[in-house]
Amino acid sequence: MSQAELGEQLDALARQYGNRFLLEAAPDNQLPEHGMRSVDAMRLLGEELVLDGIPMRNLATFVTTWMEPEAQRVIAENLYRNFIDHAEYPQTAEIEQRCVRILADLFHAPGETTGARTQGSSEAIMLGALSLKWKWRERCEKAGKSTDRPNLVFGGDVHVVWEKFCRYFDVEPRIIPLQPDKYTIGPDDVEPHVDENTIGVAAVLGTTFTGHADDIVGINGLLLRLKSERGLDVPLHVDGASGGFVWPFLYPHSEWDFRLEQVRSINVSGHKFGLVYPGIGWLVFRERSDLPKDLVFYENYLGKTDATFTLNFSTGSAMVLAQYYNFVRFGRAGYRYIMQTMQANTRRLAERLTDIGEFRFVGGENEEQLPLVAFQLEGEHDFDEFDIASQLAAERGWMVPAYTLPPNADHMKIMRALVKLTLGHSLVRTLADDIAEACATLKKKGGLHELDRKRVKTGTGY
Ligand SMILES: Cc1ncc(COP(=O)(O)O)c(C=O)c1O
Repeated sequence: MSQAELGEQLDALARQYGNRFLLEAAPDNQLPEHGMRSVDAMRLLGEELVLDGIPMRNLATFVTTWMEPEAQRVIAENLYRNFIDHAEYPQTAEIEQRCVRILADLFHAPGETTGARTQGSSEAIMLGALSLKWKWRERCEKAGKSTDRPNLVFGGDVHVVWEKFCRYFDVEPRIIPLQPDKYTIGPDDVEPHVDENTIGVAAVLGTTFTGHADDIVGINGLLLRLKSERGLDVPLHVDGASGGFVWPFLYPHSEWDFRLEQVRSINVSGHKFGLVYPGIGWLVFRERSDLPKDLVFYENYLGKTDATFTLNFSTGSAMVLAQYYNFVRFGRAGYRYIMQTMQANTRRLAERLTDIGEFRFVGGENEEQLPLVAFQLEGEHDFDEFDIASQLAAERGWMVPAYTLPPNADHMKIMRALVKLTLGHSLVRTLADDIAEACATLKKKGGLHELDRKRVKTGTGY
């Protein structure tokens, strides 16, 4: 039998019994000359993806890992709808605006306002911070002052996107270092950094590192004082990537939003505690005038003028629709119930970890915080938090991150577990038992070998 005949025979057998790519490498650097059956392509991907972690065991991520089947159906049925095509899909555009209005109301906007759907909080922050820069320039030009050296003030507790904005858009970052025993910022930290070239101050509601909030009331008070004493009108942007969907339901009386005068814009990730799958964020302004006209592009598309304020253009509509699905499905009562459930299980996990007797928690019991447990080892051990994270992953596949805090609190090693809806009562018990088990193993065998240490992940997760 010739080589070609043999090849044909093998192909025929593969078509009937398997998948040609079980015997060949998956294409990884060239578009293959011939494709494969759809079912084979699906199987190829399925087989590759088992190497990824299981999202529901990922206690590092803030991002939603589970949605209801009905929401999944809404998503699946709307994947082809290009969000930017407002002329063809006007109702999708209307639903986006409903979401913006619902969020503006949730965040106590004083009147009619505006905002936008974004890819996530990162895009929302880029757009929000650009608005701060534009508004600052307008103020400077009106006052006949130089517009050469804009700066932005924020704490070391922010997400990397804030520094990214500064680098991409040529703004001096004024980063306030954390302190050895203080992991958020307040007015006294901010004051020395603010001057007439400050385009704004960014404060975080629910930091990636410990889940606590900056002293937003205090910073607002400082900015009001600077306005009345020095004539400096510095806006405050709240990065509520995670906290924007948590605080309104767990801490409704805590003021962090447009109830505070200097808060001019807020971002929030729909795909975090907004409970939507990845790919949706929101930017909401206090008033329409906080969005500089110059940043909105008008174009004539299919005979209709359309306004866009976005860094991207074509993108999916499915997550916008899924966000609206959650709003109408849960309402305030539903979101409150879900956040309270997560909080109750967070407390349960903290209690179980207390019983182990090896850990202390970051932050006081009554401090406002995202539904997460941030903890560290107490006392002397032959192993550390990174070792526990690695052992826990090896024994049970849990992804509980270990990391150090930003400067000047970088001596602090922390572990952090997000307690989302998929971590119910009994899994919380299992997780705590597994952490105890991992510690018991490490006590017997000692910490990780240097080579293993190098492989331990050291990021916070997002
Ligand atoms: C406080 C904070 N800001 C911004 C971001 C970036 O958000 P996104 O991943 O939605 O772009 C994150 C993500 O973890 C965050 O925790």
